[in-house]
Amino acid sequence: MQLILAVFFRNKFYPHKLNILLIPTLNLSLPNRFIVILVAKTFAGCESILAEELAHLGATNIRELTRAVEFEGDQALMYKANLHCRTALRILKPYTTFEASDEEMLYENIQAIDWSEHFSLEQTFAINTTLNLSNMTHSQYVSLKAKDAIVDQFRDKYDDRPNVDTEQPDLRIHLHIYDNQCTLSFDSSGESLHKRGYRDYTNQAPINEALAAALVITSGWDKESTLADYMCGSGTILIEAAMIMRNIAPNKFKHRFGFETWKDYDAKLWKSIYNDAIYNEKPAGTIKLYGSDISGAVIEKAKENIENAGLSDTIIVRKNPFERFKKPSDSGTLICNPPYGLRIEPKDILAMYQKMGDVMKQELKGWTCWIFTGNLEVAKFIGLRTTRKIPLYNGPIECRYLKYEIYDGSKKAKKQNTEEELNSDEEL
Ligand SMILES: C[S@@+](CC[C@H](N)C(=O)[O-])C[C@H]1O[C@@H](n2cnc3c(N)ncnc32)[C@H](O)[C@@H]1O
Repeated sequence: MQLILAVFFRNKFYPHKLNILLIPTLNLSLPNRFIVILVAKTFAGCESILAEELAHLGATNIRELTRAVEFEGDQALMYKANLHCRTALRILKPYTTFEASDEEMLYENIQAIDWSEHFSLEQTFAINTTLNLSNMTHSQYVSLKAKDAIVDQFRDKYDDRPNVDTEQPDLRIHLHIYDNQCTLSFDSSGESLHKRGYRDYTNQAPINEALAAALVITSGWDKESTLADYMCGSGTILIEAAMIMRNIAPNKFKHRFGFETWKDYDAKLWKSIYNDAIYNEKPAGTIKLYGSDISGAVIEKAKENIENAGLSDTIIVRKNPFERFKKPSDSGTLICNPPYGLRIEPKDILAMYQKMGDVMKQELKGWTCWIFTGNLEVAKFIGLRTTRKIPLYNGPIECRYLKYEIYDGSKKAKKQNTEEELNSDEEL
């Protein structure tokens, strides 16, 4: 919102005519300055990383919840969180809370909101519901009931109704019902933030982008030294690492955010936040990120993704089995998400993990290696001593992020080998 100062004056050449000069003054943009509570959703185990990301962006009163982080900020911060948070899945703006112990109560409370304030008849909407410890037990039925309440209100008012679009709605509404208390939020992200826009979703299931970013951040990689992934698949870990290294906003490629179709959308504010992010990107330096995979087809996919992300000058990938991996520099960081063995024979998967340990020990002296696996049993067959074991979830799969420091030098290696023998069947 802009304040315009109107000045009336008479021109000496046309004294009979009253002139008006409109002077734009303060850009009030009132909604931008309002501090609101926001909630960023994430994976179990990533809450503290996300809390740090938000603090870095200027969020206040940050509170870590389960698979979410609550924080306070204004509209600008909400836009920034969508653009910059690498480990967030969506940014919700809670609007109201009410008791909803049955469908009728829910319907009435939803009808009490003036929906024309939030979207128009021509726009589309969608409702997602999560339920926990409540009288109502069917989330889809709750969503349906809430949809009816909104549609009925529009019908009463305009004799017409807005359409539902579950794919790309103009307004995505979240209902979180816990212990019969409903929190209704608006989803400012739209499609989940892990869908960055550089990868297509038609190939085999690669690691989630937000999770890949969490792995890179957790590794403590210095953003300067060599980083490799010797089973890189579609290249997600490398792409996320390259974006971190070059200070590229993870969601710069996203076509549309939920907030862009909100009634209070401030296009000017968003544009300035987006332009700042582009301005602060770092140029490509010498190549430090390397990936390989046994599958040529997968490497072609990785190259496509890397190109889509504009990182062909930053990452090199090639077809190569990890068994023949050669370290590209004396020291560096390996981050790898090997197969968990769900589709491979158990005998093969044991041998693969054993071989991974051998390659680390023989080829990666001087390196820090991180293995992210959902197969806790076979992870023991790596046979090296872990220096950290971090529990994380890949969707429903309980995983471990395992750190191995592969010392260079005979003394340390000897000590390490003894410890490895002692710890080879350690608890994960
Ligand atoms: C879980 S996927 C990795 C997914 C990857 N992080 C991504 O984002 O696409 C495991 C990968 O290991 C690769 N792989 C299996 N055996 C291998 C081997 N012996 N050497 C190198 N890569 C191998 C597979 O082709 C697959 O792409």
